[in-house]
Amino acid sequence: MQHERFRKHGKDVIDWIADYMTNGYDGPVFPKTQPGEVLAQLPMEPPQEAEPGEQVFADFESLILPHTTHWNDPRFYAYFPANHSGPGILGDLLSAGLGVNGMSWVTSPAATELEMRMIDWLGHMLKLPWRGCIQDTASTATFCALLAAREQVADVNQSGFYQQQPMTVYASKHAHSSMQKAVWMAGFGERYLRLVPGNDDDFAMDAAVLAQMVAEDIAAGFRPTFVMSTVGTTSSTAIDPVHAVADICEANNMWHHVDAALAGTAAILPEMRWILDGTERADSFCFNPHKWMFTNFDCSVLLVKSPDALKKAMAINPEYLKAGHDAVVENFRDWGPQLGRRFRALKLWYVIRCFGVAGLQDKIRAHLNMTRWFADQVRAEPRTHLLTEPKINTVCFHLDDDAATKALMKAVNDSGEAYLSHTVLRDRYVIRVSFGQIHQSQQHVATLWGLISRLLP
Ligand SMILES: Cc1ncc(COP(=O)(O)O)c(C=O)c1O
Repeated sequence: MQHERFRKHGKDVIDWIADYMTNGYDGPVFPKTQPGEVLAQLPMEPPQEAEPGEQVFADFESLILPHTTHWNDPRFYAYFPANHSGPGILGDLLSAGLGVNGMSWVTSPAATELEMRMIDWLGHMLKLPWRGCIQDTASTATFCALLAAREQVADVNQSGFYQQQPMTVYASKHAHSSMQKAVWMAGFGERYLRLVPGNDDDFAMDAAVLAQMVAEDIAAGFRPTFVMSTVGTTSSTAIDPVHAVADICEANNMWHHVDAALAGTAAILPEMRWILDGTERADSFCFNPHKWMFTNFDCSVLLVKSPDALKKAMAINPEYLKAGHDAVVENFRDWGPQLGRRFRALKLWYVIRCFGVAGLQDKIRAHLNMTRWFADQVRAEPRTHLLTEPKINTVCFHLDDDAATKALMKAVNDSGEAYLSHTVLRDRYVIRVSFGQIHQSQQHVATLWGLISRLLP
């Protein structure tokens, strides 16, 4: 593509994105695509000759768009949000335009230093002034924290696990499955992962049971190593008792990681900062601006009390990467598993500056109000039942029996007018309605409730 054609077509693509953000998508938010349907329409072989970008775009509109789940549509209430925004898109575009690989300070000083300053800004916004870096996802952040904890206890990087006293890991039964994956990948073995029950009322981890499990493991000759508290669990946004977990971690010299992948964003509101109370006593913390802070996927922030612990687990300096300033600069390749790193700080910089902290707070506050309003409707309708009081941005509700709940969710999703997802809690099939789309307004939420009310049996 010639540069002039790029300029012209690029402007058309930006226009299209601006229209998409302004008007939304006029088809279903959740496509009724059958497995293999997209694949069947794509040529088996790549084109031998160059095709115009306009042709690719036409195919994007006809082949891709109708089979896309519209995550940034205000009718999307499934899972947790993965937001974009105008500023986030522009920051990402500039990152693509520069095409920088920020693996080391020297490979692009601005990439490293802007990332450092963004971490300072977020630390200020969250009242958690630690150092840190941007990872791709919370799954990676948890994995990194676990590796750091492991290397504090034993030099597995050098010696492997062969001679080690078994190291045990703890998280709530409601913790995200990325904890389990991290345990696999870091070599602990799932049999040494303890899932601590949550209390039946709000699904928060039972710290007394955690303390008991730790004591039993010590008595059995194991080395309790790592605990993850979750602030805002995936199923119901339950909040683990971070202070009580911190007491246990401090008493037993264990690494304490706080996973606030979704909920961390809410803590930028002064009235919601309490959700992170106790986190300052932990060793590491992560949250995803790509979920609720209007920063295009991917962008997960890992903050650590001791960067040296993280670097001990992952710093490596082969000859071909050595550079003159290594002793005085940060090389973020030492803070995670990958060598290559995208210039993600640009989109955070755009987002925080173009919204302003107050603008971000206004949006989050509005989403929390929508959540409360929706929960009030569920409470007032005799055929719908709240499973638990919503803690953050997600309402979990069910009907009298599981079959009816499932049928309701299917009917809503089949309508194409909204997209909901489910979980199972207290052995019940539960619909989750998660608020937080950048384009969502109270009017959209009222429309959703109208749709649900019409479809109720
Ligand atoms: C509490 C929690 N932790 C971790 C994750 C994993 O997030 P990611 O996709 O960034 O790895 C999720 C995803 O929804 C989550 O809800």
